[in-house]
Amino acid sequence: MAVDNKINMLTKKQKEIFDYIRRYINKKGYGPSLKEMKKHFGLSSLATIHEHLDNLVSKRYIKRVKNQPRSIELNNKKKKSELVSIPLLGMIAAGSPIEAIEIPEKIRVQKSLLSRSGEHFALRVQGDSMVDEGIFDGAVVVIRKQPTVENGETAVALVNKNEVTLKKIYREKNRYRLQPANSALKPIFVKNLTIQGKVISIFRNIEEIEQKQKFEFNKIICGDVLDEMKKIPDNTMHLAITSPPYNVGKNYDNHNDKMSYRDYLDWLFKVWAETKRVLVPGGRFALNIAPTGIRDFVPLHHDFANQFRQLGMKFRTEIIWYKQTMLKRTAWGSFKSPANPHIVPSWEYVLIFSKDKNRLDGTSKMADITKDEFMNFSDGFWQIWPETRRKGHPAPFPEKLIYRLIKFYSYKGNNILDMFGGTGTVAAVTAKTGRNFIHIDISPQYCKVAKDRLNKKTKR
Ligand SMILES: C[S@@+](CC[C@H](N)C(=O)[O-])C[C@H]1O[C@@H](n2cnc3c(N)ncnc32)[C@H](O)[C@@H]1O
Repeated sequence: MAVDNKINMLTKKQKEIFDYIRRYINKKGYGPSLKEMKKHFGLSSLATIHEHLDNLVSKRYIKRVKNQPRSIELNNKKKKSELVSIPLLGMIAAGSPIEAIEIPEKIRVQKSLLSRSGEHFALRVQGDSMVDEGIFDGAVVVIRKQPTVENGETAVALVNKNEVTLKKIYREKNRYRLQPANSALKPIFVKNLTIQGKVISIFRNIEEIEQKQKFEFNKIICGDVLDEMKKIPDNTMHLAITSPPYNVGKNYDNHNDKMSYRDYLDWLFKVWAETKRVLVPGGRFALNIAPTGIRDFVPLHHDFANQFRQLGMKFRTEIIWYKQTMLKRTAWGSFKSPANPHIVPSWEYVLIFSKDKNRLDGTSKMADITKDEFMNFSDGFWQIWPETRRKGHPAPFPEKLIYRLIKFYSYKGNNILDMFGGTGTVAAVTAKTGRNFIHIDISPQYCKVAKDRLNKKTKR
C-alpha cells in the first residue's frame, strides 16, 4: 500500500485493527462486520470500533461504502489509466484544412485509446454523414496521423487542395471513392486526395471524454451486473465476453438460477442493452450460450439472438465450442427406437455480435495474433475441453476458449468486459495478453477467487 508515510502513521491499536481487517478481506474477499470486530477485540461497545474505523478512513487505510452491511474496503491504490494531451482541432468542415488552425485547444485522453506510436490529434465532427459508423453530429474523433489507409478505413482526407472531410476511403481504378456511412447520402469521387490520418477512437462528445478520464480499468467489481454496468461510460469497451447463468438451477453462491423464463429473458435483455451502450462502435460481444434441457429443449441461443436483433446489433457469426463430453453420456430417451430419442448437446455456442459496424478501429502494430493462430481460430469449430479446475464454481470458462476470443477479436491495449465474471477467467487472460479488464460478479466468494487468481501468474 502506498499509505505508509509519517503523516498516516497508525497507533498500535489502529495497526492491530487494520491488520485484522486486511487479513479478513484477503481470506474472505469482503470486509468483517462491526459485530465480528467487536467480538474479536473483546470490546464492550460498537462506538469504539466506529472511532477506530473513522481514524483508519481519515488516514486513508480503508474506505467505507455507504448503506452496505459489510462496508469496509481496503484503500488500495488502483492503477489509474494514464492520460495524455493531444490537440483538439476545429470542426471538420469543407474549406478548412486542419493545418490552418494555429492554436488548437488540448484535450486529455486515455493513453490506451491511442496507438502506441505516431502523432495524434482530435477533431470535432459536424454533420451526420458518418452515423452508421457511430460518428454522430458533435462527436470527437481521435486521429492518428498517417499518409495511407486500407480500403474501407475511416480517415480524414484533404481533397481539392483545401477541403477536409471524414469518410470511408476506397481506392478504385482511376479514382478514390469517399463513402459516407449513411445510406441516405451518395459517395463523392475524386481523382486525388491526401490522407491526413485514420480514426482510431470515437467519443460522443467532450463530456464523454471527461467521464472516461475518471474511469479506472483492471478492477474486480463485486456487485450486481446492472448496478455496476451503469457506472461504465458509453463507448468504452472494445470486447465483451461473457456467459450468463443459464437459468437451470445451478448452485451459484449468490444468484437464483431458476427464475420464470419471462423474468430471465427480461433481466438479460437489460444487460444486453447496457452491453451495447458500453461497447465502442465496431466493438464485439462474444456470448457463450447453449440450449438447455434435453427432454424439454429451451433454445436460449435463439431467444438471445432475437434480443440482439431487436437491439440493432450485427450478428457476425456463431462458433461451435465442441466440448467432447459425450463420454459422460447418460440420457438416451427411447434407446434404439425412433419413438422419442434424445440428442445430447456435447457443444455450446459462442455467438459474436458487433455494435454499429463490423470493423474495429486499431493499428496493425497492436494486432498480436500469429499466422498459425489466425488460421486455426478462423475455423469456427473449436474443440476445447471444459475446465476441470472448478475453483468452487459450477461453470468456469476454460482459459483456452477465452484466449482464442481475445486474440481473434481484439487488439493489444483494448478494454475487455466480463459482466458475469465468476472466477475471473476473462480478467486473467485479458491481463496476460496485455489488455485491460473490467470484471463484475455478484458473489464475494467468486470475486475473491478472481482476485487471488490475478495475483498469481495464470497459465494458458
Ligand atoms: C456462468 S457463470 C460465469 C463463470 C465465468 N465465466 C468463469 O469463468 O468463472 C455466471 C456468473 O454470473 C454471476 N451472477 C449471477 N447473477 C448476477 C448478477 N445479478 N450480477 C452479477 N453477477 C451475477 C454468478 O455469480 C456466476 O458467477
